[in-house]
Amino acid sequence: MRRAIYPGSFDPVTNGHLDIIARGCKLFDEIIIAVVVNPEKNPLFTLDERREMLSEVLGELDSGSCHLVVDNFQGLLMQYAVERKADAVVRGIRAFSDYEYELQMALMNRRLEPRIETVFMMPAEAYSYVSSRLVKEVYHLGGAIKGLVPASVEARMRQKFGKS
Ligand code: PNS
Repeated sequence: MRRAIYPGSFDPVTNGHLDIIARGCKLFDEIIIAVVVNPEKNPLFTLDERREMLSEVLGELDSGSCHLVVDNFQGLLMQYAVERKADAVVRGIRAFSDYEYELQMALMNRRLEPRIETVFMMPAEAYSYVSSRLVKEVYHLGGAIKGLVPASVEARMRQKFGKS
């Protein structure tokens, strides 16, 4: 039984995140999608909203025999990963610019917990420029985000920004 944790802010979940989860399902029996609770980050969506959106869209994902779990964590990722008896952490790498930060985190995490591997996965090219931050910015400024996030997330964005 191979268990991975896919940690992140998921503010909100994008089609890029879902692409990574679907790819991770080819490697792992269980993926825990772990929403970070970071009071300093001032997210657009509350923790409960982020968890709800994830649960909604993951229910529609074809994950085969891979078990998907939504959870949240606070504090050190490695401590949480040990508690959840995970073998690996999954992170998506879009462009070269992601790599430096992700490498630093992966090496620090390895130092903290050498038993747990970090697995970098590349999303489909179509999502290589999609981030939660840009989706929020584009939507807020009136741009179209169709195809970048699931329809249910787009509906939540509409509610959040008070658009009809
Ligand atoms: O979606 P994000 O915001 O890029 O996710 C970042 C995340 C949650 C993976 C990272 O901030 C994290 O692991 N936070 C937990 C605190 C921690 O363990 N810090 C040390 C990392 S080396």
